Amino acid sequence: MNLRIAVCPGSFDPVTCGHLDVIERASKMFDKLIVGVFCNPDKKPLFTVEERVQMLREVTAHLPGVEVDAFDGLLVDFARSHDARFIVRGLRAVSDFEYEFQMASINRKLAPDIDTVFVMTSTEYAFLSSSATKQVASFGGCVRGLVPGSVERRLREKFAARAKG
Ligand code: PNS
Repeated sequence: MNLRIAVCPGSFDPVTCGHLDVIERASKMFDKLIVGVFCNPDKKPLFTVEERVQMLREVTAHLPGVEVDAFDGLLVDFARSHDARFIVRGLRAVSDFEYEFQMASINRKLAPDIDTVFVMTSTEYAFLSSSATKQVASFGGCVRGLVPGSVERRLREKFAARAKG
């Protein structure tokens, strides 16, 4: 059987309601959707890759056909390792376009058999990003509705632990 398999990559530091909206909608378009958590050696994330994978597994547990895995190296290699022919990315606003266009073009050059598919983020999440959420949470602001409940709790715990030193 020819399964339609896609990967949905990102840093997910942490997963937001905007990511989840894209994952939920994309999961209906493919037989299998592998959410790929990028382990970027150049960045110092708030959450470890294991924590990010764990949070994503929790919030996508209700979605059939969705799996979560970590990756390093090239995205197209990760996609190939899962026999995926599609890359799904969420697109929020025009400001995302240039970065996404560059990534999609590079990935297409590296792997012409893998196509990038964009899912427009729902308008209520168009302003949302992991970094803005982290900044709000770091100053004790309320992030309810911006991230899933379990992530909200973890953000609170993470910044409380940091404050204690
Ligand atoms: O959520 P992000 O940080 O915008 O996701 C970026 C990500 C992980 C999709 C991108 O950095 C990526 O694909 N990294 C893997 C390395 C790679 O394949 N680079 C070539 C394409 S630019």
